[in-house]
Amino acid sequence: MKHIFPFQSKISNAQRKAQLQQEPQLVWFTGLSGSGKSTLALRLEHYLFHRGHKVFLLDGDNLRNGLNRDLSFSPQDRKENIRRVAEVAKLMLDAGLVVVSAFISPYAEERELVRQIVGENRFIEVFVNCPLAECEKRDTKGLYAKARKGLIPEFTGISAPYEAPLLPDLEVRTSEESIDESLLQLIQFVEPRVLAK
Ligand code: PPS
Repeated sequence: MKHIFPFQSKISNAQRKAQLQQEPQLVWFTGLSGSGKSTLALRLEHYLFHRGHKVFLLDGDNLRNGLNRDLSFSPQDRKENIRRVAEVAKLMLDAGLVVVSAFISPYAEERELVRQIVGENRFIEVFVNCPLAECEKRDTKGLYAKARKGLIPEFTGISAPYEAPLLPDLEVRTSEESIDESLLQLIQFVEPRVLAK
């Protein structure tokens, strides 16, 4: 960028980690609308918080209500949505936080971009795997019914693609497991990784 001069803080990431006594990690939930991303992300945030971790949740519906309110669901705007979220998450990780996020993030390429922006060793990709038919049956927000009627354009799974991760760090199958069972898997995977080294 022209005429921009980024500078480094005098406090290192290692100093911040030592002060907060935890390993900053981004737990990135991806999955269809209605797959259970937000439910699991909320439960994981709640669990980690009460275990004493400094944790913060970023969620699609919430960010699209503020920072990203100017963005649509076109492929370009979804990519910009995810890029901005990744930059916000990176700042939070640099500040020493554990970040839990829930975005559909339907494109493999944009999830790869998140990994690059925040750094491979701070990124945990969680695939919330739930068949479209089951998400549509749940239809907790009534969005699938509207999308089927053509009232919501570019709806993921109906009129816009979802590229499932091929090699996620963790996969939970919310149509086959209870929320508590998925949460237990998450805790067992994530908690050891956020403990201070
Ligand atoms: S994305 O694809 O990552 O940019 O989407 P995200 O920021 O996670 O926002 C998803 C939520 O937006 C609502 N919504 C839609 N989802 C998918 N496609 C279309 N066209 C759409 N329009 C609105 C919906 O409530 C999504 O929330 P979740 O929690 O996934 O159901």
